[in-house]
Amino acid sequence: EKGGWSSFMAKEVAEEPEAVANTMRGRVQDGQIVIPELDGMDELFAGVSRIVIVAAGTAAYAGLVGKYAIEQWTRIPVEVELAHEFRYRDPIVGPDTLVISISQSGETMDTLMAVKEAARLGAKTLSICNTQGATIPRESDAIVYTHAGPEVAVASTKAFVAQITALYLFALHVARIRGTLSPETQAEQIAELSALPAKIQWVLDNEQERIEQFAHWMADTRSVLFLGRHVGYPIALEGALKLKELSYIHAEGFAAGELKHGPIALIEPGQPVFVIVPSPSDSPVLHSKVVSNIQEIRARGARVIAIAETGDAAVLPHADEVLRVPLAAPLFAPILAVVPLHIFAMGLANAKGLDVDQPRNLAKSVTVE
Ligand code: F6R
Repeated sequence: EKGGWSSFMAKEVAEEPEAVANTMRGRVQDGQIVIPELDGMDELFAGVSRIVIVAAGTAAYAGLVGKYAIEQWTRIPVEVELAHEFRYRDPIVGPDTLVISISQSGETMDTLMAVKEAARLGAKTLSICNTQGATIPRESDAIVYTHAGPEVAVASTKAFVAQITALYLFALHVARIRGTLSPETQAEQIAELSALPAKIQWVLDNEQERIEQFAHWMADTRSVLFLGRHVGYPIALEGALKLKELSYIHAEGFAAGELKHGPIALIEPGQPVFVIVPSPSDSPVLHSKVVSNIQEIRARGARVIAIAETGDAAVLPHADEVLRVPLAAPLFAPILAVVPLHIFAMGLANAKGLDVDQPRNLAKSVTVE
């Protein structure tokens, strides 16, 4: 039940801190990652030479975020592929490949068929899933459940942050098995992860009202662009997907570095562009690159809405609007940066009087190919 909330989506966005905390619960003990579901699989994780992540929609964007962390921490090469593309292109996977599927419902037909194809080709399969006993986990060799709780609204929100959390727990678990992270670094990452629920809560407490207000002002917008680099890139894709599915506004996400290779031609006076800005202290190089991207589009009249760390004063002169998120280490920042984008998409759809729980033409779980 939605309790006192105006929609299931409002409730589920409010539950994003809990979704992360519950996915971590019991899985960090004495400063170590403990995933009992994966007991007995150390040899498998020590031996895999490649990981392929298959998923659709928002779950695939969680996979894209996960790729950065898995590669950085475990040094295992990771590819992320849309499940429906994977299945029909005679993919090269075998016994040394771990295929990780990500699915909130666990029933997405495209993802299920990709998992079956991977198994047929001899790969080991791991399911990251939010629904106990669903088909995809039943068809997989191993399962790491996300504990976001039931997600009712069609648009995936709390499941997304839980999926990234589960991928990070998995990556840290494998890094320990493979000895690719020092105990100090491992401990730092666990501390960052543990700090996320309170930081997401900070965004909800301090920025939600302002973002909703801002979304109201933008209700007549025809098109919105989203830019990000590194882990901010999948977040730009997620921001665009949420906006199109909930508010029926044209939206596109780009890798900021790709601008000059084409998309900058779209910029005309007044074009709103959300830019996910990396931390100036933790990612100074990326930060300055993104600030120059902002300058390029602003010089052409773009209206820049920056999602930036609370301490980032350098971005202020370059943005028309700044939505604040607390400081987090670079790999953890996307779990915070996505929250304003979820709020914005919901706020804009509400401002247009649309049903945020049940957008037109969409179903919560897509059980046909
Ligand atoms: C977007 C959204 C969809 C799902 C996708 C996969 O907000 O909800 O893009 O993420 O259909 O669904 P699951 O995770 O159930 O496999």
